[in-house]
Amino acid sequence: MTAVKKNEATGALYDFEDIKLTDKMFMKFAERMYDLAGVDLPLTPKNHALIRNRIVKLLRRHSLKTYEEYWSKLESGGNEMVSEFISALTTNMTSFYRESNHFDFLKSVLPELHRKFGADLRMWCAAASTGQEPYTIAMTACEAQPEMPSAKPRLLATDIDLQVLKKASTGTYEEREMQGLPPVQRTKYFEKIKADGDEYWRAKDQIHNMIRFAPFNLMNPKYEFQHKFHVIFCRNVLIYFDEPTTKRVIDNLVSCLAPGGYLVLGHSESGNVKHPGLKPMSRAVYQKL
Ligand SMILES: C[S@@+](CC[C@H](N)C(=O)[O-])C[C@H]1O[C@@H](n2cnc3c(N)ncnc32)[C@H](O)[C@@H]1O
Repeated sequence: MTAVKKNEATGALYDFEDIKLTDKMFMKFAERMYDLAGVDLPLTPKNHALIRNRIVKLLRRHSLKTYEEYWSKLESGGNEMVSEFISALTTNMTSFYRESNHFDFLKSVLPELHRKFGADLRMWCAAASTGQEPYTIAMTACEAQPEMPSAKPRLLATDIDLQVLKKASTGTYEEREMQGLPPVQRTKYFEKIKADGDEYWRAKDQIHNMIRFAPFNLMNPKYEFQHKFHVIFCRNVLIYFDEPTTKRVIDNLVSCLAPGGYLVLGHSESGNVKHPGLKPMSRAVYQKL
């Protein structure tokens, strides 16, 4: 079934499914995304469908009829258009306790990091998406707290996509987004709230206050932070980058880690990591020498 839509601006009826995305326009969008976010989208049927399906939603939103019109608007529009484009083309899939062995590992090393580095434990979640990952890190730090009562764990959660970051900062989730969170943690660290007649789960202050949310593009040429981090999670984002970009990002991440600190990547991302300053510890976990 095809969807016939009304153009809000002109009142004309037209069929979005029939709007053709030429290979030339595909390449323009793909190159723009690569330049902005490092996301590598070679011309394949899957990527063609991805760009077509996601940008067609923006055509609707802006009452435009062709990808060419959208391209002109993107080129002449300001930061908001660019930010919306990035949001449309990023993949934000995430869940609580995803690749859960990483949180067992974190719980086991936090007391050791506390002994080594003192009270201020600084962690960074560098592709935080809608927040399930940083809240899982915060819950893990709370679970480790009895073994390090004087520690003050702090977490910076960043993402290039401002829309997911905004959601993450609210810490509010629908039932379907709570997937992966065991019942005990659910009631210990989240509370039920009602808004507009619907029920949501909201992160309690104990974990919410541990996290600071901020935009950050991993394509930044240099990562400049006041202090080194003791743990960095950068999971399931390198898969979208090509080899030279991945290498550059890893070099930058390593430069932000304190010696003895840990870098945690996604399970499927560890194949590309050959850094002389990193010692493999367990699956996709590295320690800075
Ligand atoms: C698939 S999600 C992974 C979320 C989470 N780390 C996890 O493992 O569940 C990938 C995230 O990386 C973000 N991302 C993509 N390119 C980025 C870049 N250049 N800088 C920062 N974040 C980026 C996306 O916006 C998205 O939220």
